[in-house]
Amino acid sequence: MTPLQDTILNKRTTNPPIWLMRQAGRYLPEFRKIRELNQNFVDLCLNENLSSEITLQPLRRFELDAAIIFSDILMLPYGLNQKIEFKKDLGPQLGLLDLNKVSKVDEIDFIEKLYPIYRSIKKVSKHNLIINKNLIGFVGAPWTLLVYMINKRSPKKELIKNFFKDEFLINRVLIILEKFLKLHIDQQVKNGATVIQIFDSWAGLLEEKDLPNYVYVPTLNLVNYVKSLNIPVICFPKGVKNYKNYCDIVKPDVVNIDYDVDPISICKEIKIPIQGGLDPKVLLTDTKILKKQALRYLDIFKDHPYIFNLGHGVLPKTDPNMVDYLVKMVKDY
Ligand code: CP3
Repeated sequence: MTPLQDTILNKRTTNPPIWLMRQAGRYLPEFRKIRELNQNFVDLCLNENLSSEITLQPLRRFELDAAIIFSDILMLPYGLNQKIEFKKDLGPQLGLLDLNKVSKVDEIDFIEKLYPIYRSIKKVSKHNLIINKNLIGFVGAPWTLLVYMINKRSPKKELIKNFFKDEFLINRVLIILEKFLKLHIDQQVKNGATVIQIFDSWAGLLEEKDLPNYVYVPTLNLVNYVKSLNIPVICFPKGVKNYKNYCDIVKPDVVNIDYDVDPISICKEIKIPIQGGLDPKVLLTDTKILKKQALRYLDIFKDHPYIFNLGHGVLPKTDPNMVDYLVKMVKDY
């Protein structure tokens, strides 16, 4: 059993495993080199040789317990034929959402369009570097994908006006998303993903009263689906005010906390394994501050099943030596 599975299934509390969200990315010079030669991000995600190599890059450098497949949550709207571009410094830009078009997408065509991702997963799963480690597949939660599909870009701090105006559209898209997210999860698992993480990056935009409709119910359906495949599921509802309510209702195997929540009260309130929390900005400081801040999480969760990770993804300006320091520190704890 891998350290990650042992923590999740047996609720072991010693020596936490570690992996980092966005561990494969722009802070690594070897990634930037590939990225410079591949200006089209979608094409890069669909290049199975390069995407599998990028997935493995952080494992070549650091003693991490898991790889996360190099792809993006927005490959799902791409599979549904919504146009998507990643522009430098602007983030993702999506084309108009055409419900007629999206409603007509055929399951086989969807799988065929995303097939290079599944082949990449298969390739990584057979690699020596992944022995006794986990390969994490992932999806965006229905709510976060809905936000991008309707908003057409990152909502930053708020949604466009009239986001909720077209209730029919929203409900149709949520139904379509559920169907294709299940397919996407199923294909990732069939090809070798051993854990699934559900990213709900924009859960924090909603008021409490809207969480059941847009976050709890659609995510619970996916969580139950992953569990039916006998694979552990980690949820990251970034920015939700009440993580305990979320866990009681959605029942993931693991919950990833963001850097805004108090880890002490989380540790007291939530019984399931916890992942993450450390502010990625701490990796931009120095080793002294990093040590102190990382030790805080390690100490608080020392008697709780805990997977070390961040409270959001590794930032592009991070020095890889700081990541190295952090991983060694967690390993030696
Ligand atoms: O974690 C990993 O190392 C695996 C790869 C991964 C990427 N995106 C690659 C990527 C994962 C798990 C994601 C998830 C993702 N993508 C989320 C959820 C997590 C979160 O950050 O909240 C979201 C919201 C997206 C959508 C997205 N993709 C945005 C907003 C951006 C632009 C901003 C940014 O951080 O760069 C992307 C682009 C993206 N996805 C890059 C990478 C490595 C950078 C692309 C580049 O090189 O220009």
